[in-house]
Order: sequence, then structure tokens, then C-alpha cells
Amino acid sequence: MYDFTTPAAQHVADSYKWRKYAGRDILPLWVADMDFLSPPAITKALAERVAQGIFTYGEPTETALAALIAAARRDYGWAIEPAWLVPLPGLVTGLNVACRASGSGDVITATPIYPPFMSAPQFSGRKLVKLPLRETRLATGSHWEWDFDALDAAATQGATLMLCHPHNPVGRQWTLAELNRLGEIAEKHDLTVVSDEIHCDLLLEPGARHTPFASLSPALAARTITLMAPSKTYNVPGLGCAFAVIPNAERRHAFQKTMRGIIPHVNLLGYVALEAACRDGAAWRTELLSVLRSNRDEVVRALDGHQGLRVTVPQATFLAWIDCRGAGLQHPQHFFEQAGVGLSDGADFDAPGFVRLNFGCPRATLDSALARMRTALATL
Ligand SMILES: Cc1ncc(COP(=O)(O)O)c(C=O)c1O
Repeated sequence: MYDFTTPAAQHVADSYKWRKYAGRDILPLWVADMDFLSPPAITKALAERVAQGIFTYGEPTETALAALIAAARRDYGWAIEPAWLVPLPGLVTGLNVACRASGSGDVITATPIYPPFMSAPQFSGRKLVKLPLRETRLATGSHWEWDFDALDAAATQGATLMLCHPHNPVGRQWTLAELNRLGEIAEKHDLTVVSDEIHCDLLLEPGARHTPFASLSPALAARTITLMAPSKTYNVPGLGCAFAVIPNAERRHAFQKTMRGIIPHVNLLGYVALEAACRDGAAWRTELLSVLRSNRDEVVRALDGHQGLRVTVPQATFLAWIDCRGAGLQHPQHFFEQAGVGLSDGADFDAPGFVRLNFGCPRATLDSALARMRTALATL
């Protein structure tokens, strides 16, 4: 019913992803936005708002907040109170503010990880403690888990734990048992938990349901800063609209105080997109998920086991994490770039020898990229 075949972003002049390789025959499957048209419900709502011709400083309307709260209840069974919400222009902003507003001790993050999880603690003058996820090799790809004993041993009293839930780049949807174990450790060491849930509406297994970390118990909610946004799921990252959910008033005030004078108002068109996504985006998202599932399966089929590559099968996100260490490549990202496919370099995620492939694109683009990669690998 919806259009997931038009290669959308390559035809606009201002796509960050496509501009990187402008004028070169390199398919950009790197930065995490999708090459799909946004849901028609969002485009329509934006067009109506733009037609009003007034672009003042924005405030979330009552209806936008109500749509957001209703979507959290519908999709995760999570009851959010309006007072807990802090609008933000983006999640990276939220990660950095959270690091500055949650004490001065260690910040623990599980690697490999989306790079701002490592830079935000450093920018905030806090000590970064990297905890490698445990990799189990399976018949297809790898399975990645927290090393709970290592976390328990590494956690200092009052530290901050950065949780990527679901995890970019390994695509894990953390199970209830895993989340509960993290919760126990958080209680034991009095941790603040910063839970980045930007990919939580992109669970690829049919029927999968997201559990916000803060929804596990009121006690855990009180120590958690949850970060969310419509940007990944509905492909509106350029509209700069995200939010933190901070139930504990003291933590929330510390967060808001840190923002003062630095963090700008949220783009009012972002609020319009947020409201339309929450209220009218579900049918589009259901179709998107089936396209992404099929793309994911094709990436695994085409690359896993091919010339020594191992593809982690993501349970969530539109990102595939590919271990190239078995292929004997000097620098996998350069190798595939020369072959006409622009991927993200695993080294940026603390994992040299890996690449990350964004399969949130029309099947024709993906098929061309996979063919280029296989042809290049065949020359080894
Ligand atoms: C886990 C995670 N957090 C945050 C972001 C970026 O968020 P924003 O664009 O809202 O700063 C991304 C983008 O890839 C991401 O994967």
C-alpha cells in the first residue's frame, strides 16, 4: 500500500548520507537514516502546518503530548505523565546532557556501540568504562550479550550506565530477563541509567513488543533517563525532535538545568511530525517492518559465510553488523567503498575489522550494493 521502492533521498540536494559520495558511484549505506519516503500522514500534516506560514518558537501542543502518551501506552503499556517529558532537538544532545547531569563518577557503556556513547562521557569530563559485550558464534552470525558479572564488578557506586535498547550496532532486543538483571545491578550500585530507546519501534520479529527499561518498576523508573524519538522509525531525523522521559523530579530538574542556555527550542515541525507519527503512523510502520525484515534476510543470505564474512542477524534496527575479520581485508570499510558501497567503519564503534550496513533502503539499492560487495570479495 505504501511506497518503499522509490529511492527517495538520492534525489534531494541536502541529504547528508548521499552528499558524502556526491559525483561518485558509491551507494551510501552508512549513516542511520532510511532511503524511504516518510509516511504520507506525516507529509500531509507538515504540508498543512507549512501552509499556515508562521514559524515561531515552538511548544508541544496538548494534542501532540496526548498522542505521544497514548502511543507509549498502546505500544509498550507504559503510563507516562506529561510532567516527565523534556523535549530535545536530538538524542545525541540527550546523551550528552544526561552525562553532564548525572554526577561525576564513571560512565559505563557496552561495546561495540554507537560512537556518541563513548564521546559523550569524554566530552562531559567523566571516565568512560567500556564493557565488551560477549559474543557467541552461532551457525548464522553471532549472538551478543551483556557480561553481567563483569558489569557487576566494574560498576562503581553512583556511576552512570548507558544502555542502548535496542542495541546499535549488534541489533539486540534485550529480553525481559536481561533487563531485569541490569535493573538488579543498577539498584545494587545505585546507578543512573540512561536508556537510549531510539530504535525501539523497529523490532523485526513479528509480534515483538518493546519494554522500556523505566517501565520495569517504579524504583528503576526513578533512576532512569529514557531517550526516545520518532526519527529512526518514521525517517524524520532532519526534523530534530526527540524527548527525554525523566520521572524523578530531582533528576529531571538537574537535566533541565544543564540544558539552560545551550539547547535550543525544538523545531516546531518536529512536533507536528511526532504527533502524526504517534497518531497515524502504525499502518505504515507495520509495512516498513516487513520490508526491513525481508531486506535483513537478504543481507544475511547474500553475505553471511561468504568469503569469511559473518553477519549478526539483527532483531531490531535497520543496521547489519558484519564481522570481516575472517576475510583477510586490511581495512574493510575502504575495501567496500572502493567496490562502490559506503558502509560505516566498525573502528568507530570500537570494533576494527567490522562494518555496519544500513539496509533501510529500496530493495533495488540493496541488491546492487550486495552484488558489488560479492563481486569485490570474489577477487580476493
Ligand atoms: C542509538 C542511537 N542513538 C542516537 C542516535 C542519533 O540520534 P539524534 O539524531 O536524535 O541525535 C542514533 C542514530 O543513529 C542511534 O543509533
